[in-house]
Parts: sequence; C-alpha cells; structure tokens
Amino acid sequence: MTKITAAITAVAGYVPDYVLTNTELEKLVPTTSDWIETRTGIKERRILKGEGLGTSDMCVKAIEMLLQKRGISPLEIDMIIVGTVTPDYVFPSTSNVICDKVGAKNAWGYDLSAACSGFVFGLVTGSQFIETGKYKKVIVVGGDKMSAILDYTDRSTCIIFGDGAGAVLLEPNTEGLGVVDSILGVDGSGRKYLHQKAGGSVKPPSHETVDAREHYVFQDGQPVFKRAVVGMADVSAAIMKNNNLTSEDVAWLVPHQANKRIIDVTAERMGLSSDKVMLNIQRYGNTTAGTIPLCLWDYEKQLKKGDNLIISTFGAGFTWGAVYVKWAYDGK
Ligand code: UT7
Repeated sequence: MTKITAAITAVAGYVPDYVLTNTELEKLVPTTSDWIETRTGIKERRILKGEGLGTSDMCVKAIEMLLQKRGISPLEIDMIIVGTVTPDYVFPSTSNVICDKVGAKNAWGYDLSAACSGFVFGLVTGSQFIETGKYKKVIVVGGDKMSAILDYTDRSTCIIFGDGAGAVLLEPNTEGLGVVDSILGVDGSGRKYLHQKAGGSVKPPSHETVDAREHYVFQDGQPVFKRAVVGMADVSAAIMKNNNLTSEDVAWLVPHQANKRIIDVTAERMGLSSDKVMLNIQRYGNTTAGTIPLCLWDYEKQLKKGDNLIISTFGAGFTWGAVYVKWAYDGK
C-alpha cells in the first residue's frame, strides 16, 4: 500500500494593524530601542486592540485566508487544532469557537497547550490524522494574543512578545511530501523559569493575585536563554542526523522567533548560512505559537516543491522539537 504523508498544501497568517515600536516602549519602561534590538533582534511587534477581541479572531482571519487561497469551503474541514497559551476562555476551547466563527460545521478540534511549541506539537499531532487515512483536511493554527498576559511595567518581558496567528492546511500526499520526521520533547522541571503564576487551579484568581500582578508572563530570561540555545540547536542537529541531511540538503530553517541570538546559534550548528534562515522577529517579535506559521506565510513565495525544511522550536514548559518537512508546492 502507498504510504500517505501529511503535506502542507496552503499557509496563511494574520497580524493586527497596531504597530508597537521599540521607541514607544521606551515611554512605558526603562529601556532603549538599541538594547531591545541588539539583545533580541526585535524592532516592532503587533498588538490586537479592540474590545472583545481574542486569539480566536486572529486565527479566524488566518483560516479564512487559508480557505480562500486553497479554494475550499469550511464545510470540507475535518479538524482544527489550535496551539495557544492565550485561549479566548479557560473553557470551552478556542478551537470550538473558531469552528463556529468560520462555519466549519463538520469539524471537531481542540486546543493544544505547549507554549511556543504549540504549533509544532499541533503539526505533528495533526499529521497523524492524515497519515492514518482518517481525515483529508486538517487545519493546524498557532496563535497568541500575548498582549493579554503581558505586564507593560515589566521591561524584561513586555519588550519581547507580540500578537499574531498563522495557519496551515494538511492534506494527504502519496509522493512523500509533507511531514517526514519529528523529534519532540518536554521537561516540566523548567516551569519555574517561565510561567503565569496565577489563574490556574493551583492559584485561582483573587484580589491578592491581581494586586501582586500574577496574571502576567513571568520569565527568568537567562536560564531560559541558556536552555533554548542548547535545546533548539541540539534538536535541529539531531533531526538532520537522523535523516542523513547535510547542510546543503536543507533549503530552509524555520525557527521559533524568540531571540535572534538563539536563531543564529541554531543555524550555525546546522551549518546554514543566514540566507537559508526564515526571520521575521524584527517585525512581529515573539508571537509564541504564531511565530512558525507566520514565517512560512512570509516566506511562502520563495519556497519550492521538494524543498527540505527544518522547523525548530523551544518554549515554556520546557517544550521543544524539530520537524523535517518536504515542501509540497511552488510558492509562486
Ligand atoms: O519563546 C519562549 C522562550 N523564551 C526565550 O527563549 C527567551 C530567552 N531569553 C532571552 O531571550 C533573554 O534572556 C532576554 C531577551 C529575555 C534578556 O536578555 P539577556 O541578555 O539575557 O539579559 P538579562 O536578563 O541577563 O539582563 C541583562 C541586564 C540586566 O541588568 P543588570 O542586572 O546587568 O544591571 C537587566 O536588568 O539587562 C537588563 N534588562 C534590560 N535593560 C534594558 C533587562 N531587560 C531590559 C530592557 N531594557 N528591556
């Protein structure tokens, strides 16, 4: 029997209109544009403004574009998996909200919580439903409204993150294109370095937690940085080795956009020159689960059928992973 792989057959993204520049952040916290750019690579990020708008609204925009590009009806969608740490509600899941808003009446789905690795974990999970032959059209979307959980008095976190969402469509392929291999990992002992202190079942919301500003992102940057540098470089090198790929074989590194310095180390370890590295951190900052599909969306026109892509991630949890994807269509 011919092996079925899960090919990415379309990609789309959405970033909100409002641009929060480094210069504007200088007015909110004691920082400088220069510090932010040299330490992270970020020049600006997008913020979702407007009463009653949440992560689902950005994901819906990306999915509507995806359906339009592929020329298919929402009724054809079997499943929508959403990587996010900023769901619209604690429950029901953002996937349920999105299915309703886009009119995917025949689909089911769920949210997947893996922080910055949410899209990658979703991509690997979603590809299984295609590979088994169970489904024909699975959407994986990564999106976060990080501005909802950022403390704009904390200079160590508010400068890093932005809002945005990206989505891919997975469909069966019999030419060996799509998701070829993956390595995923978690280490929950890393939770102390990057988390949201209150709002979960361990520490439910109270006046005290609000007063103590515990509903925001907490990050101890240095230890996360150290683990991310090693984690992303190791897993990327490992997936190349497992698949006998040399640096010449790899067309693109698609790295999570947390810090340009982490991306540079990863690319160097893989032996890749900077022209093979997707980068948009300067424009969007770290959109958590959104970064990787937003990169694919930005670089789509440059991608060619058969290109070997290494998608690589590291995030809170800790969570990490790499996915080897053979691109399925010419981007132009
Ligand atoms: O995506 C999920 C995974 N997350 C990551 O991968 C993020 C990993 N971490 C990082 O990217 C970096 O650690 C940061 C960008 C968060 C921070 O950069 P750093 O080079 O690690 O800085 P640091 O935390 O070691 O701080 C160095 C100095 C400190 O001052 P002192 O103690 O040396 O006087 C900080 O207080 O920089 C100070 N600092 C700032 N200065 C100006 C911290 N934030 C700022 C700021 N502006 N925004």
